Amino acid sequence: MRISRLVTAGALAAVALWTLNLPAAAAPGTDQADTGGAIEHARNPAEQSLRELAKRHNLRVGTAVDMTAFNNDTQYRERIATEFSAVTAENVMKWSELEPQRGVYNWGPADQLVESARQNHQLVHGHTLLWHNQLPTWLTQGVASGEITPDELRQLLRKHIIDVVTHFKGKIWHWDVVNEVIDDNAQLRDTIWLQNLGPSYIADSFRWAHEADRRVKLYLNDYNVEGIGAKSNAYYALVQELLADGVPVHGFGSQGHLDTRFGNYSAFQVKENLDRFADLGLETSMTEVDVRMPMPPDATKLNAQAQSYGALMLGCLVAKRCVMFTVWGYTDKYSWVPGFFTGQGAANLLDENFQPKFAYREVQAVLAYTR
Ligand code: XIL
Repeated sequence: MRISRLVTAGALAAVALWTLNLPAAAAPGTDQADTGGAIEHARNPAEQSLRELAKRHNLRVGTAVDMTAFNNDTQYRERIATEFSAVTAENVMKWSELEPQRGVYNWGPADQLVESARQNHQLVHGHTLLWHNQLPTWLTQGVASGEITPDELRQLLRKHIIDVVTHFKGKIWHWDVVNEVIDDNAQLRDTIWLQNLGPSYIADSFRWAHEADRRVKLYLNDYNVEGIGAKSNAYYALVQELLADGVPVHGFGSQGHLDTRFGNYSAFQVKENLDRFADLGLETSMTEVDVRMPMPPDATKLNAQAQSYGALMLGCLVAKRCVMFTVWGYTDKYSWVPGFFTGQGAANLLDENFQPKFAYREVQAVLAYTR
């Protein structure tokens, strides 16, 4: 990436814009600015962590955390603390993990992550209150057999959202309330929720979450919405509708699961899309960034990957209210990609030996050299 793309003219105006457009948006009792690992004197940016480099921009840089790796791999755990100022539970806040048996909650792993985040001055992005995947079997089977009626399902969803938001009240920066509710044809996704409850489950979910914690920010979150297109247009329309109905919606999350073979966005496209949600009054975040490639990696693919990471980071940095840039895992040692996309991998910033890839250097450079 050419430096001229990063360092724009009108520096003073740009500085003024940063101040105006990145308001504090922290969880109660926490500072928006990252205070962890403060380094005051000038240092070679290539030696600085992402959280240090992002501080100046009031941006939180996060990672998804795999709690099994967290408990078994010291290097994995320690790097999360030094490199990142936000965390997301990769799995342990999903419904199947929190309530594997009906009425029996398993808060342990999620509480452990929240406590570690507190100790390391990290904010927690809650993921996720409603999704169509990783639902408990008792729930999906109960609905399939007719044992759980639509009315009961609605009550179960309400109880789930209120119980979870209440349990973590005051400890979560923002919640993904609904995850992936629009499909790739830009229609409401055909799920257990839509089939049984109708489209009103979306507004209901936001209202219930808000009822349980009036201060936590509430997000919609999805993939393939990094630029302007049919799917992000559908979200734009949905958000307008929700806001017109007085539904408490505060944020839009763009996951950012990209593939070096397609999906290459420019920072212009990313900023333009995020900014239209900001213009509706929402804050925005990149919530699950990774850039997979067909295995094995080579220099061309790794460069393409670096370009994609850089464009997403730059787009977020220059967008009006993009407050968080979170990667979906940070090392190729632990990644969901090989298990989900046959023949693909190497999607993260660090390789399996925790060594920085081109993409890591690119993200560092964007953070260091963007005004
Ligand atoms: C993935 C996890 O990374 C895997 O470990 C799990 O088996 C399946 O889910 N979009 C999301 C995330 O919102 O929750 C998904 O996480 C990846 C796609």
